[in-house]
Amino acid sequence: MTDWTPDARELADLELLLSGAYAPLTEFLGAADVEAVIERGRLADGTPWPDPITLALPEDVPVGARVTLRDPEGASVAVLTVTERFGHHAAGPLEALDRPIFGPFARLRRTPAEVRKEVGDRDVLAVTMRGPLDAATLDDVAATAEELEAGVLLLPLAFGEDGPALVRAALKAASTLGAVVTAVPLAPREDPEIDLELREHLALNYGATEHYAGPAPLKIPGPPHRRGLVVFFTGLSGSGKSTIARGVRDALLEHGGRTVTYLDGDVVRTLLSKGLTFSRDDRDLNIRRIGFVASEVARHGGLAICAPIAPYAATRDEVREMVESVGADFVLAHVATPLEECERRDRKGLYAKARAGLIPEFTGISDPYEEPDDADLVIDTTGVSVERAVATVYNHLISGGWIR
Ligand code: ADX
Repeated sequence: MTDWTPDARELADLELLLSGAYAPLTEFLGAADVEAVIERGRLADGTPWPDPITLALPEDVPVGARVTLRDPEGASVAVLTVTERFGHHAAGPLEALDRPIFGPFARLRRTPAEVRKEVGDRDVLAVTMRGPLDAATLDDVAATAEELEAGVLLLPLAFGEDGPALVRAALKAASTLGAVVTAVPLAPREDPEIDLELREHLALNYGATEHYAGPAPLKIPGPPHRRGLVVFFTGLSGSGKSTIARGVRDALLEHGGRTVTYLDGDVVRTLLSKGLTFSRDDRDLNIRRIGFVASEVARHGGLAICAPIAPYAATRDEVREMVESVGADFVLAHVATPLEECERRDRKGLYAKARAGLIPEFTGISDPYEEPDDADLVIDTTGVSVERAVATVYNHLISGGWIR
């Protein structure tokens, strides 16, 4: 038996397949259905269906395999028997495993059957919510329900970070409307038409006689001085990263107003990344760990300063992606002091040792450093005072509005 952890969106789809919310769909789509959906908005048998709901699986898992699908915490959700492979996708019957649904507001994630039973024979106006309902919408929903003589069912489409806040908004609206609330983990679809069609489909499955699409939320990011920020220094050993990073940290602490977490490359390797080598894999793991911690800090509005070598562009990109995915900002500062200058300074004596062949895989000598082409700041410390270099970064943070 193989184990596999689908991504968050696939897990949400899996829950909807298993709960009956996607009926008549009970499995991830196979190739013929995917093609038919993309071409005609229908399954291969002609049933209207707007969105190809697929599952990616490593390509070495063959037809016939039984795969335990697990959530990121390791809890098994379902067993998939693979009957079809196409590209990196797989399809086949799913067997739900009896397990408690958990997470915030788990008790509100009821199945369509449960909800239909609770609502009975009454007409139902189902409101799918991607954001809170404003006063005008609340009035409109109440008026529509009255006109239809229908009960109101609120379906907050709770997925990801903002899910719990959306469910809270639904509960609040429900108390004014006298509505029933059921949380539905429908990940947003990029195409608004497909998103709307799916919502309609779900509403009907939950027993709606009428669907009301709640307005799309306005996503107003907070002002920069309240947003999370990661200032990520990259550059050769001895380029001055740590010196500048420490200077920026100190300036921020003197200024006050923001909490600062400092993740220096050498310091990280004494605990968080202790034991890792300087192979490509280990360097990447080191940078991902730093990126993970920094994005957790930034998720809560904190400011993290990182100063590892981070020689690989793809891995730096991953960190930017991680940080931006939590709604925070990312500033890449390339400390571009040339190798000759780093080597001339050789403050830790490492370049001499690397030249002598005593340190293998030494960045710049016997290991690559990929210069960033996406740096927000480029600082060559040759002939520049520490104060000036620190001021360059600090001024960038002021002009970006991250510090006031
Ligand atoms: S990274 O490549 O994984 O980002 P990191 O910033 O953690 O590197 O560690 C770099 C520091 O480790 C250098 O400043 C230097 O002091 C030390 N070091 C020891 N061996 C090496 C090596 N082979 N290459 C680069 N730095 C090394």
